Amino acid sequence: MTAGPATVPTVVLTGASSGLGAALAAVYAARGWRLVLIARRAELLDAVARGCGLDPADGSRVRLIAADVRDVDHLRAEADALLRDWGCPQVVIANAGISHGVDLSQADDLQVALDIMDVNWGAALATLSPFIAPMRARGSGTLVGIASVAGVRGLPCHAAYCASKAALIRSLESLRVELRPSGVKVVTISPGYVATAMTAGNRFRMPFLLTPEEFAQRAVRAIDAGRAYATIPWQMAVLSKFLHVVPRAIFDRYAGRYGRKPRKDACAPCQGMTRRNRIRRGGR
Ligand SMILES: NC(=O)c1ccc[n+]([C@@H]2O[C@H](COP(=O)([O-])OP(=O)(O)OC[C@H]3O[C@@H](n4cnc5c(N)ncnc54)[C@H](OP(=O)(O)O)[C@@H]3O)[C@@H](O)[C@H]2O)c1
Repeated sequence: MTAGPATVPTVVLTGASSGLGAALAAVYAARGWRLVLIARRAELLDAVARGCGLDPADGSRVRLIAADVRDVDHLRAEADALLRDWGCPQVVIANAGISHGVDLSQADDLQVALDIMDVNWGAALATLSPFIAPMRARGSGTLVGIASVAGVRGLPCHAAYCASKAALIRSLESLRVELRPSGVKVVTISPGYVATAMTAGNRFRMPFLLTPEEFAQRAVRAIDAGRAYATIPWQMAVLSKFLHVVPRAIFDRYAGRYGRKPRKDACAPCQGMTRRNRIRRGGR
């Protein structure tokens, strides 16, 4: 058992090996929080901890958990061990996610679609679930889901990703109203475009593209404030609201022109990006 100082808050974070998760870890580490970092690639988790200025072997500050978030029993066992050793965390962020375009006319893509639902929706709920009862008993804590602006409407070739994020948004909303009297907050964060491995293969224009660090600073502010729903950046919130209300007849007519996410294994990083987005990623 590696009990840390009782006064130091803890954040649990899935998808911590890269992108938004690694950037969120850095923000909480800089605040002196204890980190519980979860992802499959153990060597990257190690590197993220070191990048945060933490010794991965220092069990009083950081726990690295190499796990597939679809393994519900594994997640539950790790959560039980954490609750026993460090007590109930202050913040749990279900961030792990995958994104591929799907062509539902192709038999192979059906499994890809089911996998996307599994990781982005099922595993997100499995991440939050073990902490609901302890947070409710304590009367405080924040459960966070990283959704997406793509959850607002169905975009072409995105039947699985849009559905998974829409499902997550609704599930978090249900949880938020359920937990409201208990003092536990449920925060939904919908990023627009952020320059990570996930968007590296996009060949369409990505307006208001953020770096992961820019995103993480804003996301943590929204979590601190206990906001019910935050779209980051705010410019995408305007677009998102518009998408939400635009009549179906108009949406259907124009949405087909929107850039299409490549199918799984069809990514060609940075090809066809706008020059501005290439520069944002450090390219020329
Ligand atoms: N980037 C964007 O523009 C954008 C926009 C909207 C929403 N989002 C959402 O933000 C979240 C983070 O995405 P990102 O852009 O940071 O992508 P990323 O760099 O590809 O990171 C995805 C993370 O999820 C983890 N992950 C994926 N499948 C997993 C599994 N089965 N078990 C455990 N961990 C798994 C990966 O870790 P391992 O591979 O090591 O397991 C990795 O740490 C996702 O939920 C995504 O949908 C991103």
